[in-house]
Amino acid sequence: MLKNYLKEKREFIDENIKNCLDELKYPQVIAEGMKYAVLNGGKRLRPILLLMTLELLGEEKEKGIPAAVAIEMIHSYSLVHDDLPALDNDDYRRGKLTTHKKYGEAQGILIGDALLTHAFNVLTSKNQIITPEKIVEIVRLTSQCAGINGMIGGQMIDIESEGKNIDLPTLQYIHTHKTGKMISLPVEIACIIAGIDGDRKEKLIEYSELIGLAFQIKDDILDIEGDFEKIGKPVGSDTELGKSTYPSIFGMEKTKEMLAEKIAAAKKIIHSEFQSEKGRLFVELADYIQDREK
Ligand code: IPE
Ligand code: IPE
Ligand code: MG
Ligand code: MG
Ligand code: MG
Repeated sequence: MLKNYLKEKREFIDENIKNCLDELKYPQVIAEGMKYAVLNGGKRLRPILLLMTLELLGEEKEKGIPAAVAIEMIHSYSLVHDDLPALDNDDYRRGKLTTHKKYGEAQGILIGDALLTHAFNVLTSKNQIITPEKIVEIVRLTSQCAGINGMIGGQMIDIESEGKNIDLPTLQYIHTHKTGKMISLPVEIACIIAGIDGDRKEKLIEYSELIGLAFQIKDDILDIEGDFEKIGKPVGSDTELGKSTYPSIFGMEKTKEMLAEKIAAAKKIIHSEFQSEKGRLFVELADYIQDREK
């Protein structure tokens, strides 16, 4: 059931992203590079989570389109910059040459910048179905999760921790920020759109934080055990750079136990709070994050 749901939503999101990017024309290399970086086979986990949460809360998914598109643009920009020579220096992403390899380094930097900034344009100019107050709150939260207190914070400590022995709180900081914040963001945005607060919102955010951390632990595992043909990015990149990851610090067996713990805790929240059929999808999504091969 989840498999069909993911496919259907991925197609819906891709169509909406394409509509947004097709409006951009000049400079051609930026417009083309933005499409290259985004419309290239990503899993679309973050926008799917937004739509899934809206549906769980009984809202129309259409209200989430601008935010879903914006989040995928920001996520894709973070990958473009993450792959740059000054950061992880990777040549392949989503099964194709990385954006800087394809267009050049200066172009790659600017294409990333353009995606980040255009995301805020999409959030504000394409958003006529929700109230201005909600839009402001979504913009505030998105900038928070993408910036120093979110993804960038995690990325900086990730880079600084290469070749070092770090403790568990530092490792957790890296993972919950570089990856976790952009995964809890769509869930929190859906709660803003649906106007829910209190216990249900807290439980959903707790779930998203657990699967966000689990998602990065699994990414660390796939960097060692993954198949290039499936993950579409180089295997062994973390080891080569001396990255601090769950497997490098705890070993593979313990890492898998820790991953299973996060997944079990995430599922428990859903079992106790959201027993509907829509809730079932969140349980299946947690399993998918643990078992995914890409
Ligand atoms: C890769 O994210 C970077 C991480 C935060 C682990 P995804 O695994 O979601 O990449 P795509 O979007 O599917 O390519
Ligand atoms: C990056 O983590 C997370 C981002 C914010 C892009 P990784 O460096 O492990 O992501 P991959 O493995 O290159 O996709
Ligand atoms: Mg990285
Ligand atoms: Mg990387
Ligand atoms: Mg990785």
